Amino acid sequence: MFERLEAIISDPILRLMAAYRADPDPRKVDLGIGVFRDDHGHTPVLPSVREAESAVLKAQDTKSYVGSAGNPGYNQAMEQLVFGADHAALIAKRVRSIQTPGGCGALRLGAEMIRLVAPDTVVHVSTPTWANHGPLISGSGLKLATYPYFDAATGGVQFGAMCAALEQLPPGAVVLLHASCHNPTGADLSQEQWRELLALVRRRALLPFIDMAYQGLGDGPDADAFAVRLFAAEMPEMLCAVSCSKNFGLYRERVGALHLLGSAVPTADAAFSHMVRLARGIWSMPPDHGAAIVQLILQEPRRRAQWLEEVSGMRRRIQGLRHDVVQQLKVHCPQRDFGFIERQHGMFSFFGISVDQVHALREQHHVYMTDDSRMNIAGLRQENLEYFARAVAQVL
Ligand code: LMR
Repeated sequence: MFERLEAIISDPILRLMAAYRADPDPRKVDLGIGVFRDDHGHTPVLPSVREAESAVLKAQDTKSYVGSAGNPGYNQAMEQLVFGADHAALIAKRVRSIQTPGGCGALRLGAEMIRLVAPDTVVHVSTPTWANHGPLISGSGLKLATYPYFDAATGGVQFGAMCAALEQLPPGAVVLLHASCHNPTGADLSQEQWRELLALVRRRALLPFIDMAYQGLGDGPDADAFAVRLFAAEMPEMLCAVSCSKNFGLYRERVGALHLLGSAVPTADAAFSHMVRLARGIWSMPPDHGAAIVQLILQEPRRRAQWLEEVSGMRRRIQGLRHDVVQQLKVHCPQRDFGFIERQHGMFSFFGISVDQVHALREQHHVYMTDDSRMNIAGLRQENLEYFARAVAQVL
């Protein structure tokens, strides 16, 4: 059976992670995989997570199964974090949530739900989008298409072209949207543009599938969830995949959720029964540990306040780095305007250099970013900002 397989090249993000780890040069700069780093280049366990983790371990008296839908307390806490505690869709009991292994599990389960009901559905993703959206969604059997998104000339969004493309879609087509902190570009829609997009999505009867993997790391937990809350207030149905990898720093614990908005209580209940059955058929039960930590943090006001402070610390660091790297680039690469980096949100920025320049940065200066020139801003450090800017100057 497996003798027929030929080796394939792994996901570009994972490939880059391996190349960076293998590089012995002490000056190396990792702007590859999207993990938050502190100014020592370390991805810390958040203090709120560490404390909640001890409490969880202390209180835990069994390792028995939790269930295919995961921990109900976690699911409810996540609904409140994502939608806001008093959201009309929650009050109307139209949201159903299932704990998933990371945001990836949520994306895959959402795709499986769509395929179950309408296997010919096409899911439309932004150009560009996160490297794993394609495999996660097409792996369920759904077809994938793209809509224009990033505007290389401005570092922003080609909103007119995006809307013109979405206007052409047939009813029932799925639009995959990034709630905030767009991965890989960092270019987000304004609140005004989200409102316009909502009108379009409603008029064309499209199904929004929103991926929110960075809540809190752009403008704050509420501001970053603006689109999710807006769409959930107006749409009859939608899907929302969320991840606690970045905002809780729980990457390897695999903590996520899929929220489904149904048009009414009975349809939401029916959809939930299918979500649970599909999850049972893929991973059976999600891992408990990380979700139990998140639940405890979100449900205890003191822990929650501490976590919110830690999230704002991560956000401030990223925003500060965006400002500082633009200053350094101004000095060392005055011929080019990198001001867009400061206008973008979240961990990533599309740097806008050619593949050859990306390779030259990697080979000559040990600076690692993906070939499309996505850089993880949080991978920069005060001590290497100048090194980075000088390296860029040499490859431009
Ligand atoms: C990224 O985009 O680098 C992160 O979301 C990590 C991953 O799994 O790709």
